[in-house]
Amino acid sequence: MKVAVLGAAGGIGQPLSMILKNNLPAGSSLSLFDVAPFTPGVAKDLSHIPTDVTVDGFTGDDLTKALEGADVVVIPAGVARKPGMTRDDLFNINAGIIANLVRNIAKTCPKACICIITNPVNSTVPLAAEVLKEEGVYDKHRLFGISVLDVLRSETFLAEELGISNQRILVPVVGGHSGTTIVPLISKVIGHEKISQKRIEELTNRIQNAGTEVVEAKAGAGSATLSMATAGARFALKVVKGLLGEPGVNEYTYVEGGSKYAPFFAQCVRFGKNGWDEAFDLGTVSEYEQKLIDEAAPQLQKNIEKGVNFAKDWLAKNK
Ligand code: LMR
Repeated sequence: MKVAVLGAAGGIGQPLSMILKNNLPAGSSLSLFDVAPFTPGVAKDLSHIPTDVTVDGFTGDDLTKALEGADVVVIPAGVARKPGMTRDDLFNINAGIIANLVRNIAKTCPKACICIITNPVNSTVPLAAEVLKEEGVYDKHRLFGISVLDVLRSETFLAEELGISNQRILVPVVGGHSGTTIVPLISKVIGHEKISQKRIEELTNRIQNAGTEVVEAKAGAGSATLSMATAGARFALKVVKGLLGEPGVNEYTYVEGGSKYAPFFAQCVRFGKNGWDEAFDLGTVSEYEQKLIDEAAPQLQKNIEKGVNFAKDWLAKNK
């Protein structure tokens, strides 16, 4: 397997690359690209870790070299928000970065599974789909928005609430990856009946604002990097397992075509040899969760249209 990380020298990219270097199957290769000129140095640093994964670093005009033969591309590139900003406020800067990177992927490694971390994910993923369609290589089973940090956070907060180990908890989180589009399905957690409705609403609110909690705590120095790198690596490693044919590998992710609520929706999918091959129905949810999903749907729709419209303009201007 060859995994490329675009934005590999940044706050998310470096720890993400380190986790991949330590956990990819033996014989894999890791390809790091970033506009930061010291990216080959990050690769050199990682290459001293004794695992059977080779690492190369690229910068400047070498994006094509970085992408050649990639099976999976993970994208944390772009700017992070500062206190007072929403993820949507990043759109104007990050949209152009994603459009350009995805066009390069389409031309160099069109079959790669693309995992997007760059915010606002609710819009950058549909934007990427449009660019891939224009290049004639779009396959919805190979394009993912990374929303799994919402699952990690929910598991942490719920385990704390119930006083049980993080290893023993599973919290589905559906919808999108921004504010009220993040919908944790706490009613599916074993032991949820011990938590009052008022407390469920407080926990839901905390999960929806957990990214902002980090942004505020970092006080202008950016957003979540270490937890996001953990989430991104957990996700990419599962995509790799699927591509290698390991059965029964599932994760929550923002993808097209699995939901009746919005064209792109975060839900549980199963990974296979060609990307995701099955998206699972949400099953029964509580009345409160259904209300949250119904409210998230029009917001998601708006976010999706924003990405699609940007892509159309960008493609017209960048023939
Ligand atoms: C997060 O959830 O931490 C990331 O999407 C970054 C952010 O801006 O909140």
